[in-house]
Amino acid sequence: MTQSSILVTGGAGFIGSNFVLDWLQSSQDSTRPLINVDCLTYAGNLKNLEGVATHPGYTFARADICDRERMDELLAKHQPRAIVHFAAESHVDRSILGPEAFVETNVRGTFVLLEAARAYWNRLSEQDRAAFRFLHVSTDEVYGSLGAEDPAFCETTPYAPNSPYSATKAASDHMVRAYFHTYGLPAIITNCSNNYGPYHFPEKLIPLVITHALEGKPLPIYGDGLNVRDWLYVGDHCAALRLVLERGRPGETYNVGGRNERSNREVVETICEILDELRPGSQHCPHKQLIRFVKDRPGHDRRYAIDATKLERELGWRPRETFSTGLRKTVEWYLDHPAWIADVVSGAYRKWMEQNYQDRIEK
Ligand code: NAD
Ligand code: TYD
Repeated sequence: MTQSSILVTGGAGFIGSNFVLDWLQSSQDSTRPLINVDCLTYAGNLKNLEGVATHPGYTFARADICDRERMDELLAKHQPRAIVHFAAESHVDRSILGPEAFVETNVRGTFVLLEAARAYWNRLSEQDRAAFRFLHVSTDEVYGSLGAEDPAFCETTPYAPNSPYSATKAASDHMVRAYFHTYGLPAIITNCSNNYGPYHFPEKLIPLVITHALEGKPLPIYGDGLNVRDWLYVGDHCAALRLVLERGRPGETYNVGGRNERSNREVVETICEILDELRPGSQHCPHKQLIRFVKDRPGHDRRYAIDATKLERELGWRPRETFSTGLRKTVEWYLDHPAWIADVVSGAYRKWMEQNYQDRIEK
């Protein structure tokens, strides 16, 4: 391939920023340029990327994936060898309150990006066309909800999305699949289980519980707290994505998950125990006293579980973190980053980004 750069969408969000940081700081890819395309919704935070803001291989472009002209321009200018597509509306509760933004970004945005990618890809040399990849980062939620005894989701599990979030992600997966089958665009889909780790926006369960517990605020558990999620440390997801990008087969789907099924109750209680240990002097000890069972989420999926055998067997992927090591690392990260939490909780990060990054943002 004559091109060496990759274009990432949604790189200022939780998983995207972990991916960008890993790519530019710690992997063998650190000399390979990366363009981060993000329109900076409430979930996009350039403070996550301060560590690479001046990295010579890093370019940030503030753009909406629904804007076809901008996508065409960026692809023509940077000539990437791959697109890694993270950009999405990602929070189930928000999708219940306001599904439209999810249809716009997850469905229409992915469609626009696919069209731009197809036009760009068609103009590449034969060799570059063969090497090009469109990696679509998706979720296990497209498979719906499992009963307690059901086998974990595998790549051939039928889609049965239940929330506006998962329905729009499912729609985007179908479009990506269709672009491979119809046009030959070398696309790959990954469906990953719930991630957790640094830079996770505190509207999602794990960071919400950590940040609330530190402030002595109630820890809300929906329903009976026995809904089960299969948790994966974000760094392990990013490692899987790098592998799939380099060695995954176009047209294939790979499920990503760490076989770490936990009920929400267990997750919240474990965070409380870690905090009791790391902050023994806190007036909120024992942190479990802050737990409150609250009204359930409408249509709340009972259980997710991922069978990652294909990824393990074909590409040799293995998660490095167990739930116990990953969760401890995550709690420690939040304890070490009070300023990041304060900015996110107050919304100050949005103002700061406008001021500090204006001259670094590619127009
Ligand atoms: P996030 O909400 O933290 O970040 C999304 C990012 O996309 C933000 O930076 C936001 O500004 C950007 N964005 C949103 N709409 C955009 C648009 N129209 N144009 C350009 N940028 C836009 O999400 P996340 O948790 O990092 O998830 C990233 C991807 O991974 C999503 O596609 C999600 O479906 C998928 N995923 C997430 C999880 C998880 O547990 N968080 C698990 C599996 C898969
Ligand atoms: P979340 O982090 O929103 O991820 P997802 O819905 O995509 O799995 O929620 C994880 C689980 O935690 C889910 O079963 C809903 C539950 N939950 C609570 O019990 N309380 C909360 O305040 C939140 C945000 C989630």
